[in-house]
Amino acid sequence: MEKTLLIIKPDAVERKLIGSIIQRIEKKGLVIKALKMEKITLEKAEKHYKIHKGKDFYNDLIEFIISGPVVLVVIEGENCIQIVRHMAGSTSPIEAAPGTIRGDYSIDTLKNIVHTSDSIESSTREINNFFNM
Ligand code: CMP
Repeated sequence: MEKTLLIIKPDAVERKLIGSIIQRIEKKGLVIKALKMEKITLEKAEKHYKIHKGKDFYNDLIEFIISGPVVLVVIEGENCIQIVRHMAGSTSPIEAAPGTIRGDYSIDTLKNIVHTSDSIESSTREINNFFNM
């Protein structure tokens, strides 16, 4: 069965949005397979975001994602990668539609509440970076 990684980022944890975000996933009918809260290491953050290395926002992104605890969630369900991406909404706060997680909770491109895997290849790589499963 398809799996995806959802990261509830430090801004969302600080703003006490963990429950609201998890509730959306459960209400949708997706299954939470694993869940943990931790402050991720610089090494794991760099591995996770290696495709963005060299971009102008890369240093700010790494600094932000290690700035406080995150909640790492492995979600399972048919087509869950695309479903969770739609639920997260666009990275651009201008385009993120109301009703999506980012559309409802963020006006910032960097501090955008959640990360979600964008393909089977990246979900496998990202889940393996944070979980033994
Ligand atoms: P995420 O889905 O975690 O994937 C890469 C992250 O980089 C993205 O969410 C944002 O947090 C951040 N990001 C992407 N584009 C920009 C940008 N133009 N400016 C600042 N941050 C960005």
